[in-house]
Amino acid sequence: EGSDQPPGNKWSFSGPFGKFDRGALQRGLKVYKEVCASCHGLSFIAFRNLGDPGGPGYSVAQVAAFASDYKVKDGPNDAGDMFERPGRAADYFPSPFPNEQAARAANGGAAPPDLSLITKARSYKRGFPWFIFDFFTQYQEQGPDYVAAVLQGFEEKVPEGVTIPEGSYYNKYFPGHAIKMPKPLSDGQVTYDDGSPTTVAQYAKDVTTFLMWTAEPHMEARKRLGFQVFVFLIIFAGLMYFTKKKVWADSH
Ligand code: HEM
Repeated sequence: EGSDQPPGNKWSFSGPFGKFDRGALQRGLKVYKEVCASCHGLSFIAFRNLGDPGGPGYSVAQVAAFASDYKVKDGPNDAGDMFERPGRAADYFPSPFPNEQAARAANGGAAPPDLSLITKARSYKRGFPWFIFDFFTQYQEQGPDYVAAVLQGFEEKVPEGVTIPEGSYYNKYFPGHAIKMPKPLSDGQVTYDDGSPTTVAQYAKDVTTFLMWTAEPHMEARKRLGFQVFVFLIIFAGLMYFTKKKVWADSH
């Protein structure tokens, strides 16, 4: 629909040996918590997942401390009442709105999508036979490249010939250009304690890396196993070759 092609990025998680950059995951979590969480849910992720191998790498104590910052709805208690309590490791990230209608009403008619799987949901998928070609390209980076681009694609100056309706914002990369998410990030908005630049570009890359992890928390284990399977198959093929030579040695 005339939207610009998202630029490519160098992602730490790309390729058959790619891993998540721990620093980026921790910074991205901070960006999600301080910026995105006021509108977007992350409902498939529990606080305990933040301590899982292959993720942001927090300790049990750090996870408990992180979770206790949140207020979680619970109940009914013995008196039959609902109540709020501090979050625990087993709780899931609470959603910002009670339901879809409330989410729409607060955002000019467009509900902010849950971000758990957004990097997968926004990678384009082509039908047969074209997906065969995607296998040989950077297909897995389509989603994260798009998400990072949308976060950086807000521009004050609307190009000639494009009209943006009231309550929408011009975004270079959003299909159709009129998005109902207001520009969420600006320079200096989130503090980092590891010396990384506090710029929109850095926030966008960090939160996108984090959202790639939420969408595929076991990516590192998957790639490791995939590599082991390859090694096994190569060794096994060799064994089979010599076995075949021996078994058929006398036949001519
Ligand atoms: C849509 C990410 C902050 C409100 C989206 C989309 C993404 C996204 C990936 C989907 C775009 C698409 O459909 O292709 C983020 C991230 C944020 C953030 C990573 C934090 C850095 C916010 C905030 C608000 C918000 C703070 C509310 C003030 C919305 C709304 C939509 C949306 C209403 C739907 C837009 C539409 O369909 O027109 N966001 N967002 N977002 N976001 Fe955000």
